[in-house]
Amino acid sequence: MASCSDTYGRPIQYLRVSVTDRCNLRCVYCMPEEGIPLIPREDVLRYEEIVRVVRVAVEMGFVHVRLTGGEPLARKGIVDLVRELARIPGLDDLSMTTNGILLARYAEDLARAGLRRVNISLDTLRPDRFRRITRWGRLEDVLEGREAALAAGLRPVKINTVVVRGLNDDEVVDLARLTLQPDWHVRFIEVMPLGEGAHWAGDGVVPSAEIRARIEAALGPLTAVRGEAGAGPARYYRLPGAEGTLGFISPVTEHFCGGCNRLRLTSDGRLLPCLLSDLAIDLRTVLRAGADDETLREIFRRAVVAKPRGHHLAEEPVPAARPMSQIGG
Ligand code: 5AD
Ligand code: SF4
Repeated sequence: MASCSDTYGRPIQYLRVSVTDRCNLRCVYCMPEEGIPLIPREDVLRYEEIVRVVRVAVEMGFVHVRLTGGEPLARKGIVDLVRELARIPGLDDLSMTTNGILLARYAEDLARAGLRRVNISLDTLRPDRFRRITRWGRLEDVLEGREAALAAGLRPVKINTVVVRGLNDDEVVDLARLTLQPDWHVRFIEVMPLGEGAHWAGDGVVPSAEIRARIEAALGPLTAVRGEAGAGPARYYRLPGAEGTLGFISPVTEHFCGGCNRLRLTSDGRLLPCLLSDLAIDLRTVLRAGADDETLREIFRRAVVAKPRGHHLAEEPVPAARPMSQIGG
């Protein structure tokens, strides 16, 4: 099969794989300081299992796989997983979303193993505030991780910034200004009312339109970037004279479901048709019962067909049975 389309004609070619729900940070909008109940280790897919699932997905037409967490670099042996996945013929793009804390240590090995690029979560440029938001992290580690990623050729490096009113929204102009320098691409994400994010639902959400207006007032008009749009939920722009791009991801104020091209695999082996629905299709049980490839393909087809047309985040809270750290963003 060349590619997979859902009931609404969307091509589904992008699989996000959460390799662990564990994390070395405790971002306030994601987890309470004491953490949350973890998926039991025996329920977490082994690397051989992940490789098999991804191989089947790629044979069905998936071309992009992104490793997420929790924090993917917090799982032991992650470089070995990258190496195995990179060997799968037909997998054009292998990427990772990380908080960057361990990236300086791993960037070179990840690149050598076949990782193409990384997205780094970074909500602030102020060390004291970084510690307040992540509770445990050091800003310097993330900045060094970013440098190491660039040096290793993991490009483009995109920065993901979750914007929360009263927490870091006063920095959107400073963050946007970074894109005037080489190799800085910054995407602003509206905080979603999932898990701990629920504390900021409503007033805490800074609509992308407002962020854009603030940036334009300070730094000049934004020009839409063509071509960059197709793949995902972000809309891309450039500041006058900028090399880097500015992206806006607006799960709350804009419906981007029309362009949704992805499925998610949780670390306990569930396929999630939609980030904002509790629907989860169990792949692990059949996998461990010795299912053949055709059975796995059938489950993928079911997950693709089950993708809803859209969500209603602006109107109602999500029924989030799963915290963000299990879904991986
Ligand atoms: N709303 C929006 N983004 C979130 N992330 C974690 N929790 C939330 C939330 N409630 C982001 C992280 C990271 C990505 C994987 O998901 O900051 O960038
Ligand atoms: Fe960890 Fe990412 Fe959650 Fe922060 S947002 S605690 S880095 S999983």
